Amino acid sequence: EHIPVICIDGPTASGKGTLASRVADRLGYHYLDSGALYRIAALAARNAGLELTAQRESEIAAVAATLPVRFAADRVLLDGQDVTDAIRTEEAGMNASRVSALPAVRTALVELQRGFRQLPGLVADGRDMGTVIFPGAALKVYLTASAAQRADRRQRQLSAKGIATTIDVLRADLEARDARDSQRAVAPLKAAQDALLLDNSEQSIEESVDQVLRWWEERQ
Ligand code: C5P
Repeated sequence: EHIPVICIDGPTASGKGTLASRVADRLGYHYLDSGALYRIAALAARNAGLELTAQRESEIAAVAATLPVRFAADRVLLDGQDVTDAIRTEEAGMNASRVSALPAVRTALVELQRGFRQLPGLVADGRDMGTVIFPGAALKVYLTASAAQRADRRQRQLSAKGIATTIDVLRADLEARDARDSQRAVAPLKAAQDALLLDNSEQSIEESVDQVLRWWEERQ
C-alpha cells in the first residue's frame, strides 16, 4: 500500500490516455492503460474464434486470464505479434466494450492490472480504476468533456491516421459505448465518491496536466 497510485477515470475519448501518460511522464511513474487490456482481450478472443457474447463468457475469461501480452516501449505485443494499431480501431473499442461487460472477464483482468503498481508509482486510466481496481488510491480524478468535444477529438485522431469518418457517426458511436459502460451491472462507469471532477472541454492538455499535478502536490 506504500506505492502511490493516481487514477484517471472517465468516458470514451475524454482524453484520459493522453492526460494519464503525460502525468506519469512528469512524475516518472509507470502508466497503465487498462482499456488496452480489454481491447487486447477482445482481440485474443476473436483470434481464438470466439463470438463476443455472454454465451462465451467463461471461454473469453479464460483467454483474458492468460493473455500473452507485453508492453515494449510504445508497442503492444500479443503473443509476440505487434497489435498496437489493430487494437485502436473503433471496432476494437466496441469489441472491448462488449467483453468488458462480462463479469468473469473483468475478474480475470484484476490481478494483471494490479501488477502494474510498482515503484516509484503508477498512473492508471480507465473506467473503474478508482472504484474497483485501486480503491485506496491517493488521488482519483474523474475526467469528462462534452460529447461534441470528444467526437471532435476522436475525429482528429482518426484523420491523423488517414481514417475518414463523420462527426455524427463518431458521436453516436461514443454515446452508445458510454451508455453500455455506464449501464452494465458490474463496475459501471461512474465517478468514485472521493474523485475530483475535471471537465477539460475548455482546457488544453497542458492545463489539465498542471491541474492534476497541483492536486497531487496538495496530497503530499
Ligand atoms: O479506454 P478505452 O476506450 O480504450 O476502453 C475500451 C473499452 O474497454 C471501454 O469502452 C470500456 O468498455 C472498457 N473498459 C472498461 N474498464 C476499464 C477500461 C476500459 O470496462 N478500466
